[in-house]
This record gives sequence, structure tokens and C-alpha cells, in this order.
Amino acid sequence: MTAEIAKNVHWVGVADWALRKFHGHELSTHRGTTYNAYLILDEKKALVDTVWTPFQDQLIENIRAVINPAELDYVVANHSEIDHAGGLDAVLRYAPKATVVVSKRGMSSVKGHFHKDWNFKSVVTGDRIRLGRNELVFVEAPMLHWPDSMFTYLTGLNVLMPNDAFGQHYATSARFNDHVDQTALYEEALKYYANILTPFSALVAKKIEEILALGLPVDMIAPSHGVIWRDNPLQIVEKYRDWAAQTPQKSTVIIYDTMWEGTRRMAEAIGDGLAAKGVPYRIFHAATSDRNDVITEVFKAKAVLLGSPTFNKGLLPTLWPILADLKGLSFKNKTGAAFGTYGWSGESLAILEKHLQDCGIPIAAPGVRAMWQPGGEDLQKCARLGEQVAETILGG
Ligand code: FEO
Repeated sequence: MTAEIAKNVHWVGVADWALRKFHGHELSTHRGTTYNAYLILDEKKALVDTVWTPFQDQLIENIRAVINPAELDYVVANHSEIDHAGGLDAVLRYAPKATVVVSKRGMSSVKGHFHKDWNFKSVVTGDRIRLGRNELVFVEAPMLHWPDSMFTYLTGLNVLMPNDAFGQHYATSARFNDHVDQTALYEEALKYYANILTPFSALVAKKIEEILALGLPVDMIAPSHGVIWRDNPLQIVEKYRDWAAQTPQKSTVIIYDTMWEGTRRMAEAIGDGLAAKGVPYRIFHAATSDRNDVITEVFKAKAVLLGSPTFNKGLLPTLWPILADLKGLSFKNKTGAAFGTYGWSGESLAILEKHLQDCGIPIAAPGVRAMWQPGGEDLQKCARLGEQVAETILGG
């Protein structure tokens, strides 16, 4: 199934409805995804991006529904990650005379992935390729989100194809943003940003200013995942500008694991303290919650509270993947605190507080440790901790 998204610009991508884990098993994709590839017909024919390798035959069929793939003059690989470049090998088999257009850094990453001696052309920001009536203009976007990432812009029709940027893991029958559920669309767009782009927020902000300064008219933003922004396309650029600022809501996320419910009861008592001060919160049981969904909530919230009983002189292991994300994603403008039960050695509180500090998240108030099961006094201390965190949030 293909779709002409603008005159002589055809979506020849694939919807992967069944995908539930992406990047191996790293990222949850509750709504599947799409791998978007765009076929541009002019005097010269260009394909912008391909699809993930298992779908390469479908891509070839889709191209064939519009033209003979052998007619392709250019194949632009905006980014070498195989959900977009995975179909290059198949496309180049059918289009051996095509030139593979890559960013400077893409030259080494595409070669590093495929080890093929294709006819490459590397481009830098501002380079143009004339297709006939219209041109392709290239804008390097290093670390959005790989060193090789690049945006491609089609003049005349004013279509920006920014690869992963502005995308969403969202499989739909519709191709355009004005034809889908807006809540679902923004849930997926934010989850994508929070889990993938957060550490590059400073670069996102800079790149947005750079693109806007080019003064290029943008009638459509066609990312490599999800729907195409056609209705008020710059709305997602404005959202990215907001998200890049990482200005949190006055809310809290409490993440814990528990063996015999003691640390859970502490989490809930902390919630009571937050609620008493009017600060909304959400509690996540790390062992049974989707890590990426939790991270999305962390992105939104001002405070991150972590709880674990002491287990083998450390933490319950289910906490560690989220702790790794807290570190790796380099969240800004947060505050934190810790809590947990223990039986004898009691290291978990200090480990959690140190981890928060290592993540650049200052401690709002000293944490609470409860021996064995928390008693009434312990739970009062937890409620007080919730109030102190709330005061930090409301005062900041
Ligand atoms: Fe960076 Fe959608 O791959």
C-alpha cells in the first residue's frame, strides 16, 4: 500500500503493527510503529530512507507499484540505523546505478553497517541536489540522535524529512497528523522524545533555531516513524522546543520495588504527604511497570523518589534498568529523595541517594529507612518526606 502525500511524493514505507519491542528489547512500542520511506518523482527519481530489513521486500513492492526501482537515481540514507537503512541492500540490488547520499559521518556508519562498495555521495549542510523542477537540500543533525543523522528538505513542495526527529512509534492506517487520535499521537511523540532524545535536548534546541533561521517554508514534516505533520506542521517543532527546555510539571513520580510490601507502604505514605500539600504524584512498581512508560512520566515530573528494600547489601535488581536510564538520559531540573526498608545491613537508602546525586538530581530531603516493616512512626516520617518534597517543588 502506498500513498501520494504531496504531488509526486509517495509514501512507500511499511506499518509494523505487531512491533512491541524496539531496539532489540530496549524500548516498548505499545502501538507498533511505521518505517517511512519517501519516493520523489521528478526528472530524477529519489528515495529518501528505506525500512527495517525484515520489511525490505515490501518496500521493493511498494516502489514497484509506482516506478521500476531500476529508475532510481538517488537513495538518501539520512541515518544508518537499520530501521531506516536496513532496506538499502535490497534497493541497491534493484537500482544498481543509484547514488547513495549520506552525511559525512554517514559515510563511515553506512559502510560500517553494510560493508558494500556502493556509489556514495557525502553531503554537508546546505548542499543541494537538483532533481529537475525541485531540489533536495541537506541539513546535518549530528546526535539527533546518532552522529550521522541528517534532515532532507524538498524545495517546491516544502517537505522536511527529518528522519527520527519529530517521529512517533505509532502504526496507523492514516498517514497524516490530522487524521489520528491527538492524545495517542502526543503520547507517542513525547515517549519517543523522553526515551531517546532527552540527553540531546541542548542540541535539539540549537538545531530548531538553526532550521527556523534558514527561513525555509515548511508545508509538511515527514519523519521516518509515525504520521506526517501536515496540519500546522510546526506544532511539533514548538513542542520539541518546549520539551528541550525540560521545564517540569509540579508533580512527582515515586518508583519502588518491594519484597513483602513494606517499601510499597512507605511509597504510599510519601504520596499522602505530597497530596496533603496539593502536589500530584504517580506511583510505579518497578517490577511490574513498563520501564519506558515510567521514564516518560519521569520526564514530565519535577521530583523522582526511589524506594527499595536492602537486598544482598544492595537494591532489588528490578530497579537497576530504570536507574541506568536516569543516569544515561541526563534529566535536567529535577529533585529527588529515597526510602526503603531493611532487616540488618540497610545499604539501599545510601545507594539510592548516591545514585540520584550521580545523575545530577539533588536530594530534596534526607530519606527514610524503616527496619523490618514500617510502623506508624516510620509512615509519619514518610508522609513528612512527601511534604518536604512538595515544599521543594512548590518553592522552586
Ligand atoms: Fe535511529 Fe528510527 O532509528
